[in-house]
Amino acid sequence: MEFRELVRRRRMVRQFQPGPIPREVLLRVLEVARHAPSAGFSQGFDFVVLDESGQVKRLFEVTNHPEFPYEEDKEFAPCYVLAISNTPAYLERYSRPDKERFGLQKAEAWPVAYWDVDTGMAVMLILLAAIEEHLGAVFFGVNWGRAELLAELGVPKGCDLVGVIALGYPQDKEEFDPARFTARRRPLESMVHFGRW
Ligand SMILES: Cc1cc2nc3c(=O)[nH]c(=O)nc-3n(C[C@H](O)[C@H](O)[C@H](O)COP(=O)(O)O)c2cc1C
Repeated sequence: MEFRELVRRRRMVRQFQPGPIPREVLLRVLEVARHAPSAGFSQGFDFVVLDESGQVKRLFEVTNHPEFPYEEDKEFAPCYVLAISNTPAYLERYSRPDKERFGLQKAEAWPVAYWDVDTGMAVMLILLAAIEEHLGAVFFGVNWGRAELLAELGVPKGCDLVGVIALGYPQDKEEFDPARFTARRRPLESMVHFGRW
């Protein structure tokens, strides 16, 4: 698919068929994350894939906010990919001889949390790759139970959850409608500022 067409087609999909994603398809989608750019080529993004029903159930148990619970009849996607930024990978990379002069051996010294930025870039590639495989995807944040979830999944200290990608084959009623979002997108001239804001 041509790049512009791919970008235009990318929309978050929130209703999925229950059927599983074949592992080889999932791996093709996730493989693109390897090609994401990263500060110092630190490649500090990791993905925990939950695609067994017990794992998915547990994900939603642990992250269920007591005051704002998920809907009781919530339909799940067959697969959830936890996008995790790996801060220690950056601190280690910037401690090496070719980078140490920048003084970025501590997370607090970084003006921008590039581990989160780079993880977001990798997520974007995954969202686009999903389209080519006829998969639907939605990225969402997790606000509750984060520490418990990461501990339970054995995520190393210093790594953090940026968000989750739900993946699955979309239900027919969510088929692509190019008109649906075009009007609500900000016009280019409102977001691009030549010379100064
Ligand atoms: C950082 C981030 C967090 C988001 N969190 C949620 C979420 O919690 N639930 C949800 O349904 N969509 C979530 N979205 C999807 C946005 O609602 C969606 O990208 C936006 O409405 C534009 O629609 P589109 O992506 O289909 O073009 C999130 C997107 C981003 C980038």
